[in-house]
Amino acid sequence: MIRPHGGNLIHRAANEKESERILDEFTEYPAVEIDREDAQEIDNIAYGVFSPLEGFLNKQDFDSVLSRGRLVDDTPWTIPIVLDLEKSELNGAESGDTLGLTYGGHPTATLVVDDIFQFDKTKFSEQVFGTSDANHPGVAKVLNMKDQLIGGKITLVRDIGNPYADYTLSPKETRALFEEKGWKTVVAFQTRNPPHLGHEYVQKTALSITDGLFINPLIGKKKSGDFKDEVILESYKVLMENYYRSDHATMSVLHTEMRYGGPKEAIHHAIMRKNFGCTHFIVGRDHAGVGDYYGPFDAHAIFDDYPDLEISPIFFRSFFFCKKCNSIANDKVCPHTGDELVIFAGKRIRALLKDGHPPPADVMRPEVAQKILSFETPFVE
Ligand code: ADX
Repeated sequence: MIRPHGGNLIHRAANEKESERILDEFTEYPAVEIDREDAQEIDNIAYGVFSPLEGFLNKQDFDSVLSRGRLVDDTPWTIPIVLDLEKSELNGAESGDTLGLTYGGHPTATLVVDDIFQFDKTKFSEQVFGTSDANHPGVAKVLNMKDQLIGGKITLVRDIGNPYADYTLSPKETRALFEEKGWKTVVAFQTRNPPHLGHEYVQKTALSITDGLFINPLIGKKKSGDFKDEVILESYKVLMENYYRSDHATMSVLHTEMRYGGPKEAIHHAIMRKNFGCTHFIVGRDHAGVGDYYGPFDAHAIFDDYPDLEISPIFFRSFFFCKKCNSIANDKVCPHTGDELVIFAGKRIRALLKDGHPPPADVMRPEVAQKILSFETPFVE
């Protein structure tokens, strides 16, 4: 089985006895209320999705991630996992102190403060997203962050709860599952959308050369106009029931935020899937892109900078339906152009669904379209 990123699968969830002790002492720690997204990232750290991170980045690692796309010890890492707070929320805490992090007023984790530092939001945006344009949703979020970053290891005492528990597996669980299925090579598919036929063919082409396919939709905060979490999950369920072999394909959701970081996020996506035990990772057209901020294959090129990533990217160019070939094809295997090609354009698919129409069957499986249309409001408002 592929090694976790950095060598060891991190586990920072307290056992029952430790939790009891921490909860007993909790009122002694300066309490800091965090939001759902931060609480979610704490779960991800605690269960090893972000291995080798054991907490939020300290200043040295943060600077190194921004300037080199690597942690100080050279481990590839492209997206800063950080906790931002206002000075007033710190209640005077300093390096070495333990903070009691609460979510919805309930204890969720402790954080031993490594350091507290200020950061330049424009530089953060430019180095991660390649732009500081506030219209970019990832940049907008950074510009809205609080002014201090708090680095330090966390210990989880209580999960935040999960409406999709039946479809959520930790890296430890996926690793056990892949072993049980006897899959030596597993290709991961990242997505933030319900499946169109382009997605399906990208996955099935990759699966043709691997033992297993791990579909891993991202569930969590997305921008307005994106599909809602339950729509993505339910539409995949119906696709898999009808069109996939259960002995070669499985699905679990990943609770983390979309950052729309294009190439840098593609590396981050690959690292998380390596931690889940996947040996290969699909990178198609405009992976994790938004608007026109990235070239359609920028997320392929960045992998050249990471020969030490260990998980192998499988690159795909654009898939489309070709009327002349009468099949799904891509621009490597099909010589046709122009009106012969039906492009899978997310905008057009969303516009049709918004008006209550199923996209044509050469774009989306009818079962998937019906499932999406069964939701009164399939989109994030
Ligand atoms: S993403 O933000 O998660 O990348 P999306 O869910 O649309 O968005 O894409 C999931 C994966 O499928 C990405 O690797 C993306 O590059 C790839 N992909 C989507 N559509 C196509 C297509 N028509 N041709 C090739 N790859 C595609």
